[in-house]
Amino acid sequence: MKERLQKLISRSGLMSRRKAEEKIRLGLVTVDGRVATLGESADPAQNEIRVAGQLLSFTSNSLTLMLNKPTGYICSMHDPEGRRLAIDLLPTDLGRLYPVGRLDYNTEGLLLLTNDGALAQHLTHPSHHVAKTYLVKVRGWLDESGRKKLQEGVLLDDGRTAPAGVNAIRRSGKNCWFELTLREGRNRQVRRMCDAVGLSVVRLKRISLGNLNLGELKSGLFRILNESELSNLKKHAGL
Ligand code: URA
Repeated sequence: MKERLQKLISRSGLMSRRKAEEKIRLGLVTVDGRVATLGESADPAQNEIRVAGQLLSFTSNSLTLMLNKPTGYICSMHDPEGRRLAIDLLPTDLGRLYPVGRLDYNTEGLLLLTNDGALAQHLTHPSHHVAKTYLVKVRGWLDESGRKKLQEGVLLDDGRTAPAGVNAIRRSGKNCWFELTLREGRNRQVRRMCDAVGLSVVRLKRISLGNLNLGELKSGLFRILNESELSNLKKHAGL
């Protein structure tokens, strides 16, 4: 099936759509050996598409893994402030992998990384509502009224949050732990939801995403998803 070149390139996981447009404008993209122009479409099953000489590949070496991101790492491909990058925790011979969504600098836990652009797009697209569960530690106590508000939705500056799951509430000295399951992925959503009910987050860890659980994976380590995890994940993502 024919698709716009910039869309195909970003779906291959090689780079973002905007970067792909830049490459097309610079004359670095070829279709069957001919320099392509912006606006052109191609079919990867019929055409040989290259970006700066590199052949686009969609399935042959697709790789998805989960990393237990420690705090103190960011989820970008580079950082002008020079902070440590989550991708630097991976060996370079795995090739270029992109974080699926983001965890804040101070958030730890399950971060997916993939070179499968379509999977990344589907997992982060709001319409697919992939569930994400966070283990949250807050100062103070999540009382019944706070729990109800988190569950039913709180008003943030970008609108009311969708219904969420709140489970396993337990006290620990002056703090409290609970599990919060969201089906949206707004910026700093857990921290902002907790602020909205008067609680400040002192620790935040993502423990599951769709069908995947962090399990016993140690902080800073990663593991490649197996075939069955990957096919279930694709189902969750609507692929
Ligand atoms: N919610 C947050 O507040 N931070 C994250 O990193 C993820 C979800």
